[in-house]
Amino acid sequence: MPNTVVIGMQWGDEGKGKIVDLICPAFGAVVRYQGGHNAGHTVKFEDRHFALHLIPSGILHEGTRCVLGNGMVISPEAFFTELEGLVEAGVEVEGRLSVSDRAHVLLPHYAELDRRREESLGDDRIGTTSRGIGPAYELKASRDGLRMADLFSSDLAGRLERQRDRMRAELEHLGAGEGEEWMPSLAVVRGWADRLAPFVADTGALLGRWRREGASILFEGAQGTLLDLDHGSYPFVTSSSSTAGGAAVGSGVPPTHLDGVLGVLKAYTTRVGEGPFPSELHDESGAYLRERGNEFGTTTGRPRRCGWLDLVAGRYACEVNGVETIALTKLDVLDGVEEIRLCVAYEIDGERVDRFPADVARLERAQPILETVPGWNEDTAGLLEFEDLPGAARAYVERVESEIGAPISLISTGPRREETIVRNEPRLVELTGGLLD
Ligand code: IMP
Repeated sequence: MPNTVVIGMQWGDEGKGKIVDLICPAFGAVVRYQGGHNAGHTVKFEDRHFALHLIPSGILHEGTRCVLGNGMVISPEAFFTELEGLVEAGVEVEGRLSVSDRAHVLLPHYAELDRRREESLGDDRIGTTSRGIGPAYELKASRDGLRMADLFSSDLAGRLERQRDRMRAELEHLGAGEGEEWMPSLAVVRGWADRLAPFVADTGALLGRWRREGASILFEGAQGTLLDLDHGSYPFVTSSSSTAGGAAVGSGVPPTHLDGVLGVLKAYTTRVGEGPFPSELHDESGAYLRERGNEFGTTTGRPRRCGWLDLVAGRYACEVNGVETIALTKLDVLDGVEEIRLCVAYEIDGERVDRFPADVARLERAQPILETVPGWNEDTAGLLEFEDLPGAARAYVERVESEIGAPISLISTGPRREETIVRNEPRLVELTGGLLD
């Protein structure tokens, strides 16, 4: 049975949630391996909508086990809010949801620090989700973080005190106010520990056992390749490893047990927050994509910046993640765009550049080299067969797969699970255990 990694090939919001939901029944467990409640997707379950940020949407599939892996940073308050929503809706979570004892606890004052830092940066801000993700990973890397296991340690008070000492100076400097109660009390943290206790486990060991028993595992990447701490448009990135390599480190499953990578690519590009975006549109075409694609953040509600599909970034994502098969999402949003453009390369300081540059200043100066391809007027929403797509839409798909260098095996033509074209492609069949065959 396959262990498959699903990752975003752009700046997040590629529609990974729908693809994970679609292929979920092929897997015994779904694992989040990085990030925290900065991620988000809305899932329709019967007649209800859930906004899930931490818990994998696999929880809505009866019998699927869900893991919040060691690579995550987890806000207890956000976790309880999601849990309550699920329990209220009658979703059975007991015995199906585990939180790694090695995952880091994200405390409320990290968000305060995140917000205040952003304010103080002014025009240089990153445009974070203000959830405290950066400070949580920073504390982890500096070895001052608080892990789930620490919540049950006799040294909990001491660890909280060390954090308080470390963060006080910066918070006060940023105006949080001396004596202001910005840190939760020991009693509050102990209360969280009691509620978390039934979920906290050595999830690396659990995943190993399930795998030996024959379960296959789906690794659900959050954010996207270009927001990866190492490979993204640094410093305008998130603070975790959102590329496929993060799946092993962030779950405790050895890399030798990962079978392959399915990349999710939106038919155009979006980005939330600040940072370079060479194919960004500032005209009515961008507004058209934003309105038709409902490009507003699930977590923060911010309007997303929109632009043409960037093939330089797509090729780079394919390479960095080892993408073998692609799910192309939101193709129907391009319906009615008379002339579609593809960003085939960049021009930087008068030179043609085909590779995504490391230097953010160069990326900021990159001008997109655009090629125009014919659009289509027909309505593709909800189509289920590749052959039923208008010729220009088929040509678009074929051009993108040949440029990026991996087959497009799934094409999403609407938000619902069923609104998907499944193409007969051997690697997709293998990575989904024949589910969609
Ligand atoms: P942070 O992850 O809150 O620190 O934000 C860092 C950058 O990542 C900002 O540009 C955010 O807008 C972006 N970001 C974080 N999570 C997501 C996501 O789930 N989708 C899209 N962008 C995200």
